[in-house]
Order: sequence, then C-alpha cells, then structure tokens
Amino acid sequence: MNHQVTILFTETQIQERISAMAKEMAPHLDREPVLIGVLKGALILTADLMRALSRLGIKPFVDFMVLSSYGKGTTSSGQVQVRMDQTMDLTGRQVLLLDDILDSGNTLAFAVRRLRDKGATQILTCVLLDKPARREVPFAADFVGFTIPDAFVVGYGIDYAEHHRELPHVGVRLETHGKE
Ligand code: IMP
Ligand code: MG
Repeated sequence: MNHQVTILFTETQIQERISAMAKEMAPHLDREPVLIGVLKGALILTADLMRALSRLGIKPFVDFMVLSSYGKGTTSSGQVQVRMDQTMDLTGRQVLLLDDILDSGNTLAFAVRRLRDKGATQILTCVLLDKPARREVPFAADFVGFTIPDAFVVGYGIDYAEHHRELPHVGVRLETHGKE
C-alpha cells in the first residue's frame, strides 16, 4: 500500500502565519513566558514560534511534556496519558502551551488543568490547527494558526503512526491501493 500527501498549507503559508501569530500574541506575553510544547506533535511549532517571538524581543523559556491520547489509529481514546512530564518550576509563571492540533479538546483540557495545579498564574494556549467540528469537551485556544474541517492531516510535526512528521508542509494523507 502506497500513500501520497496532498498539500493543505505550504511551508511559506505556515511560516507567514507563525510570524503573524507571534505578533498577535506578543502584546499579551510576559518578557519571559514559559513555552511548553506538547510532544511530539508540537516539536516544530515550538521551535519556529520561539524564534518568531525572539525577533519581537521576547525571551521565552522552553519546556516540553509528552502526552498521548492516540493509539496507532486515527481516533482519540479520550484518555490522556503523561509519558514525560515538564520539569521547570511554573510557580508564578505565565505559560504559553503549544500543541499541533486541537481536535476533541481532551489533550489541552487535561494539560491546562495540570499546569494550573503546578502553580502557573496564567496559561495561554496556541495550536497550529483547530478542528472545531471534532470537539468532545468545550475548549477554545487563545491563538489558532488555521481552522480546518474534519480531515486527518500530517506533516510539520504531525504524524500518522509516526510517519510524515518531517514534512515542512501540512497535508492530507491519501491512501492509494495498487501498483503505483
Ligand atoms: P485531542 O485530545 O483529541 O484534542 O487531540 C489532540 C491530538 O490528537 C493532537 O495533538 C494530535 O496529536 C492528535 N491528532 C488530532 N487530529 C489529528 C490529525 O488529523 N492527524 C494527526 N494527529 C491528530
Ligand atoms: Mg499531539
């Protein structure tokens, strides 16, 4: 079985949107906010956004947590697991939580509760992609790169069974059966 990825957002479109989002969020950010990327999907978003913020004079601290709510398939289990926790002391800090996709909302709702319990004074959220049609728990991100319909996407850190994270663009994976 082969597959192709049809481009939804090009590398240039994503980079331009990230610069624009950095400008939108800058007035709301402390001088040294703690960026927390939800791995593995937010790996590239975190790397690009921290540099976009740096160009605007913001000096973010960076931390990560590995959360998992997906098995190998494409449907959420609704159960969020902490596979690796963030380690920085968040007491009294402003946190900017980053994820690749806001889908059912389970992951970010869980992460926000957890970070609040750890003493963060303010938690802002940013996602590259939002799929509002798929929400299971009410959740709105403070900053959204692109709003998309209900489709399974890959690239720019986002995977299908660990494939396609390396793509600089975001696309839809099409399965092609047969020889090709
Ligand atoms: P939620 O907890 O359902 O909001 O799921 C969020 C997580 O599900 C994202 O961080 C992704 O890891 C994963 N996810 C949701 N939609 C997609 C998709 O279209 N492609 C790949 N992963 C997805
Ligand atoms: Mg994820």
